[in-house]
Amino acid sequence: MEILGKGAEAEIYKEGNKIIKDRISKGYRLKELDEKIRKLRTKSEKKLLDKASEIVNVPKILNQEKFKLELEFIEGLKLSEYLDKLETKNEVCFKIGKELSKLHEKEIIHGDLTTSNLILKDKKIYFIDFGLGFVSSKIEDMAVDIHLFRQALESKHYKIYLECYESFLKGYRTFSKYLEVIKRLDKVEKRGRYKDRL
Ligand SMILES: Nc1ncnc2c1ncn2[C@@H]1O[C@H](COP(=O)(O)OP(=O)(O)O)[C@@H](O)[C@H]1O
Ligand SMILES: [Mg+2]
Repeated sequence: MEILGKGAEAEIYKEGNKIIKDRISKGYRLKELDEKIRKLRTKSEKKLLDKASEIVNVPKILNQEKFKLELEFIEGLKLSEYLDKLETKNEVCFKIGKELSKLHEKEIIHGDLTTSNLILKDKKIYFIDFGLGFVSSKIEDMAVDIHLFRQALESKHYKIYLECYESFLKGYRTFSKYLEVIKRLDKVEKRGRYKDRL
């Protein structure tokens, strides 16, 4: 068993071909409330994974417990590490945009769209970590998804940022509400200058 991450609210282990995402107890919360929150978040992530699996590539859910999800391990290139090195970076960013437009078409907001939550496998993009995701038809929520991705590119992939962001938007253009989102993005970004993450 290998520990992959200890996030703010979950511990992630790899066991063979499986990923175990265990929502850990927060000692500072009342026990009943703590369990309720962990249960709800586990359920919510599963629900979103199920919904998203109908339209984009996501890890399969192998097992679900009260506070735990067992997921298929996606053996591929994590884009936070590999995007800069890929010859196909523009193609990959175009695909990310295109796949995101499919999620938004179904009103799925990823909520934490960074390159740490994207894996490239067999030329396909896999979305992982729907822990902060939710369902919403608000243009604002979709614009924030784009904003977070742009910020991730700008900070972690600054050398290729401009061309990748352009390719990403070209891919996202298939979204039926593209123009509305781009218009709202402008407001989100202006606000972002003095009030960083929402
Ligand atoms: N299904 C998966 N396949 C491959 N790697 C994964 C998978 N799920 C998680 N990981 C790895 O573990 C890391 C943390 O998992 P993630 O679900 O993003 O949790 P967190 O909420 O802590 O960000 C990811 O960035 C990725 O490297
Ligand atoms: Mg993550």
